[in-house]
Amino acid sequence: MASNNDSAKKKLYIKTYGCQMNVYDSARMGDVLAPLGYETSDDYEDADLVILNTCHIREKAEDKVYSDLGRVRDEKKRKADKGEKMLIAVGGCVGQAEGAEIIKRAPFVDIVMGPQTYHGLPEMVTRAIRDNGGVVELDFAAVDKFDKLPEAANSQGVSAFLSVQEGCDKFCSFCVVPYTRGAEYSRDSAKVIEEAKRMVDSGTVEINLLGQNVNAYHGAKADGSAMSLAELIAELAKINGLERIRYTTSHPRDMTQELIDIHGSEPKLMPYLHLPIQSGSNGVLKRMNRKHDAAFYLDIIERLRKSRPDMAFSSDFIVGFPGETDAEFEETMELVRKVKYASAYSFKYSPRPGTPASVDEQLPEPVKQERLARLQGLLCEHQTQFNESCIGQTMRILLDREGKFDGQLMGKSPYMQSVHLFGAESMRGQFVDVKITAGYLNSLAGELVQPPIRKVS
Ligand code: SAH
Ligand code: SF4
Ligand code: F3S
Repeated sequence: MASNNDSAKKKLYIKTYGCQMNVYDSARMGDVLAPLGYETSDDYEDADLVILNTCHIREKAEDKVYSDLGRVRDEKKRKADKGEKMLIAVGGCVGQAEGAEIIKRAPFVDIVMGPQTYHGLPEMVTRAIRDNGGVVELDFAAVDKFDKLPEAANSQGVSAFLSVQEGCDKFCSFCVVPYTRGAEYSRDSAKVIEEAKRMVDSGTVEINLLGQNVNAYHGAKADGSAMSLAELIAELAKINGLERIRYTTSHPRDMTQELIDIHGSEPKLMPYLHLPIQSGSNGVLKRMNRKHDAAFYLDIIERLRKSRPDMAFSSDFIVGFPGETDAEFEETMELVRKVKYASAYSFKYSPRPGTPASVDEQLPEPVKQERLARLQGLLCEHQTQFNESCIGQTMRILLDREGKFDGQLMGKSPYMQSVHLFGAESMRGQFVDVKITAGYLNSLAGELVQPPIRKVS
């Protein structure tokens, strides 16, 4: 029978939905619970604690949480029949947005917690065991979260995320993030640099700096003044052993000339940028409260290409925003033809409770569907063309995982493409030079052109 004794080993299952911020947070939850004897597992069967780290960005994401909760409830009941206990916690953005409502709708949930409360997890778990559930924590103190969360217990792998900024003050009219993640907050630069050094010491060679608006980063320096993201990248680039730096997600309005310039001057900064525009129509952008127009965005793209000619771009798009006319949608298609993205994400507009656009009249579903299919058709065409254009090039790839088939390894190109090749398992975790032999919609194939560059422990 599972014990509540702190020293006994307990099984922890965390399911992560949504963005990379949640991926990072889930890893920290594992770290904060490890001293209590919780060991993470890949399945929820027989788990002592199940955490769903949820996403509220679109209705579909939220529906998925409730259908998964149904399955976890069955397992909880199965355990209860054996006289064993399973705690169920809902964290992340659905937790923050719906709070105690979740327990009303799903009374078998023991803990509901917002994204800024995870340092308090040990205490919440103790309380939930003692009181038989009913724990709701929705505090909004981002400073606490980062200061009190433990450092990663183990190496996070050769390529890892590092959260530097959280929250958003931009209030795009479709988006829940400012409500679920709270106000924009940047971590102190010294703490970020220290954490990066520790990651590199434990084997990380590529760091992806994370934030909902990462290029709005303005972390305090020791003298109290603010450090920009470009300055932070320059500081991190000095770390010996750190070979690659990326950052995501950026907002066009915070794309400063300083940041554009560093793409041209810092070779460790990868030539790929996820820069969401959402729509190519100035009318729609205005109604979305994006506070930039299409020309402003295209000018950034042009300046980035001037700074680093091989820059590749990706974006997010929303189609079927309230009031979007055929002509406005065509403006999005036109912008896509101009930029020619290396990859992109596109979504049908999903009205989110509490956001300004959700009260406006919705476009019919078939209109949204047809526009999405057309946009995705064009984006896929460009993505395939971009991937095919890489055939014959030699790229340095960081092999960080197994490939699909036996004997295959995979890694990311500088432009974030997935590249697979045949190679010995011992090459995993290393940089290799790869000649690209084929380009498909979602990946590249290649072959090794020389022995591994160096072994990363
Ligand atoms: N901070 C980032 C985006 C974070 S949310 C930015 O400003 O671009 C990730 C993506 O989800 C958004 O870029 C948007 O394309 C999509 N999204 C957000 N709210 C949505 C909604 N209500 N319906 C459909 N897609 C949405
Ligand atoms: Fe959401 Fe807009 Fe903030 Fe991005 S910038 S997180 S889309 S409100
Ligand atoms: Fe989703 Fe929250 Fe991230 S709504 S996209 S998990 S910030």
